[in-house]
Amino acid sequence: MAKYKIAWMPGDGVGNEVMEATRVVLDALKFDAEYIPADIGWEFWCKEGNPLPDRTIEALKGTDCALFGAITSKPREEALEELDPSLRDKGLSYFSPIVKLRQLFNLHTNLRPCKAYPGNPLNYRDDIDIVVFRENTEGAYSGIEWFPLPEKIATAMADPEVGHPDRMKRWFDKGLDNVAVSTRVMSRQGCESICRQSFEYAKKYGRKSVTLVEKPNVLRETGGLMTRVFRDVAKGYPGIEAWEANIDAICMWMIKNPQDYDVLVAENMFGDIVSDLCAGLVGGLGFASAANIGDNYAVFEPTHGSAPKYDGKNVVNPVAMILTAKMMLDWLGEKKDAERLEAAVASLISENTVGTYDVKKVRAGQPGANSTMEVAQAIAAKL
Ligand code: IPM
Ligand code: MG
Repeated sequence: MAKYKIAWMPGDGVGNEVMEATRVVLDALKFDAEYIPADIGWEFWCKEGNPLPDRTIEALKGTDCALFGAITSKPREEALEELDPSLRDKGLSYFSPIVKLRQLFNLHTNLRPCKAYPGNPLNYRDDIDIVVFRENTEGAYSGIEWFPLPEKIATAMADPEVGHPDRMKRWFDKGLDNVAVSTRVMSRQGCESICRQSFEYAKKYGRKSVTLVEKPNVLRETGGLMTRVFRDVAKGYPGIEAWEANIDAICMWMIKNPQDYDVLVAENMFGDIVSDLCAGLVGGLGFASAANIGDNYAVFEPTHGSAPKYDGKNVVNPVAMILTAKMMLDWLGEKKDAERLEAAVASLISENTVGTYDVKKVRAGQPGANSTMEVAQAIAAKL
């Protein structure tokens, strides 16, 4: 029997190609795993009306962790148009299967390292080494929203005892049929857990600072709670500097002085935003790995999407997915393999001979760039 059972979820579009490429590398490492294929993504929305079938959830429960490529998601109207005609009047609506997986398996921590590997011609600077801790189950991703705003909810929001009658007046004046509400729900436990993990990480890896990314001057209750919890947690780590930045300001500072930042911690939406910014500083989405981590389970998925326009062309950069597999090896405790894999990737990047179109700075599909599979094979050869 293999040492590990890994759920294998290529998902949509280029997810398939980067997963195949990653398999070549894992095989070169002789990683001892049985891969359990699981259905997820757009195809299953169109055919079954469910992008995350129950059988997939059951299959995942029997595995140690999951590797996940990418998914396609589209706005409500387009999603309905592509649904099988026999399913159209059933009141089904599309939801993001990865957001659902994060909540269903309580994968509370989204870990996103953004490291400039020396020699990458796409680096903004060579001395960037940032790790983002993103809370992964709360905030604006709670899924508690309405359109149009039901009378009952609006009345509660305007209740003189617990609501905001004066502020709500302007929305009543516009007519509730014209009003949409999305909420940002955060708990002390959620804030505490992500803050603590970011400081623990900083301590373990000798990092100098942890920066909270928030907006407490406007989002006074949620941002205020997160800020208070962050300050409390920071007290337990006197050797680590605790910095605070507003989401808007940090987008500017990261462009000016990214080398000053070390560990970032943020709630869900701000973490989503700032992690794309960080990825852009170290080569873009072709290099951005990520892990959704819970107490006993984890789903490893690169930050990038399914890139439909490159689907089936074997052109996209597999490094993000391969570094994501490296994070999986780390999480499983296969530290040696994780190090070997990262060293092979770093070495390939530093040579700057084999690379996909992004690295070679040519248009996708034009001569001068290597294919997805060629890059994977070059990494495998180093192993
Ligand atoms: C990410 C993505 C997802 C998110 C989308 C695809 C739902 O942007 O993983 O960063 O917003 O979390
Ligand atoms: Mg994102």
